[in-house]
Amino acid sequence: MGKNIILEAIAREMRTGVLALNREGRVLYANPFFLNAFPARGGVEGKPISLLIKNAGLHKTIDGFIQNNTLLSDEIEINESDRYFNVRLVPLKDREESSLLLFLKDITEEKRVETIKKDFVANVSHELRTPLASIKGYSETLLDGGMDDKGTLKEFLRVIDRHATRMARLIDDLLTLSRLESHQMTIVSAPVDLNELIHATMKGFEKQARDKGIVIASALPDGLPKVLGDRDRLEQVMVNLLDNAIKYTPSGGRVSVTAEKTKGAVRVDVKDTGIGIPAADIPRIFERFYRVDKARSRELGGTGLGLAIVKHIIQGHNGKMQVESSPGKGSTFSFTIKSC
Ligand SMILES: Nc1ncnc2c1ncn2[C@@H]1O[C@H](COP(=O)(O)OP(=O)(O)O)[C@@H](O)[C@H]1O
Ligand SMILES: [Mg+2]
Repeated sequence: MGKNIILEAIAREMRTGVLALNREGRVLYANPFFLNAFPARGGVEGKPISLLIKNAGLHKTIDGFIQNNTLLSDEIEINESDRYFNVRLVPLKDREESSLLLFLKDITEEKRVETIKKDFVANVSHELRTPLASIKGYSETLLDGGMDDKGTLKEFLRVIDRHATRMARLIDDLLTLSRLESHQMTIVSAPVDLNELIHATMKGFEKQARDKGIVIASALPDGLPKVLGDRDRLEQVMVNLLDNAIKYTPSGGRVSVTAEKTKGAVRVDVKDTGIGIPAADIPRIFERFYRVDKARSRELGGTGLGLAIVKHIIQGHNGKMQVESSPGKGSTFSFTIKSC
């Protein structure tokens, strides 16, 4: 096979834009990936780069190379209509003329992940700093003489304890999420009896519901098939959903769990008569740290991570999540898992 054919195939199939410029900074060659990423009417050959990519830094570097035959930098990041590219510039010396090769790698996805990571670190720091500031404030006040009054001492220690509990809960949730994401927490698939699991989980919430004046009940059909999944992880899903249902339902309300056999699967609904969720917020509540009402969630001891954990676990089971809600009336969180 001819060398040219091989080189052509490489340029054609590359997932990187390749652009060759002549001594005047005009296009000698562009590969299909480049043409796709930077569509130009009437072709690109002979056109100056400034017509194809609008980036002042890149133009300056190329102009510098054309005029002085030196490269100011051999790598530049550019942003072109919502996409990010890393541009590598390689001088090419030929007998007749020197020119420049440009390799443009699409780094949009890397940038997106980087932003998510940065936001996450900022969020975690903020979430940890808030209770920590309270703990510090109250303990300082106690040390500054507040301790002498027995009443104050007890009251402040209670506040400190509450904030410490919140920090511990936050760290637990973060570790759970991180294990789920790093796939350390493998989903073991075994038959799970949802009937037993739901009853056991609800038992744990009886006191919390009674104290708040909420009725919790379940109605499960006979002969519900077992589902294929990880019992502990599914229990976590039920705990997080029930915790929310009770938390976001005022006194006098009702939380009910029902299940239904569907085609090859079982659907579980956790329904409440609580405050509901505005339609605009529903697509975002599974995001880490997203809350409809930050102050309310914090006051109730929430971490903003419960539903992110739920979503991860259900996805890990190849299951489906569904939310229906109307503000002031209530919400229903449903998940569907394959039966066995
Ligand atoms: N059953 C529910 N009723 C009303 N709002 C809910 C319900 N479940 C979740 N939400 C909303 O979704 C947000 C995210 O839930 P979650 O991830 O569990 O965080 P947290 O409960 O710690 O605030 C909550 O802050 C709340 O605004
Ligand atoms: Mg929650």
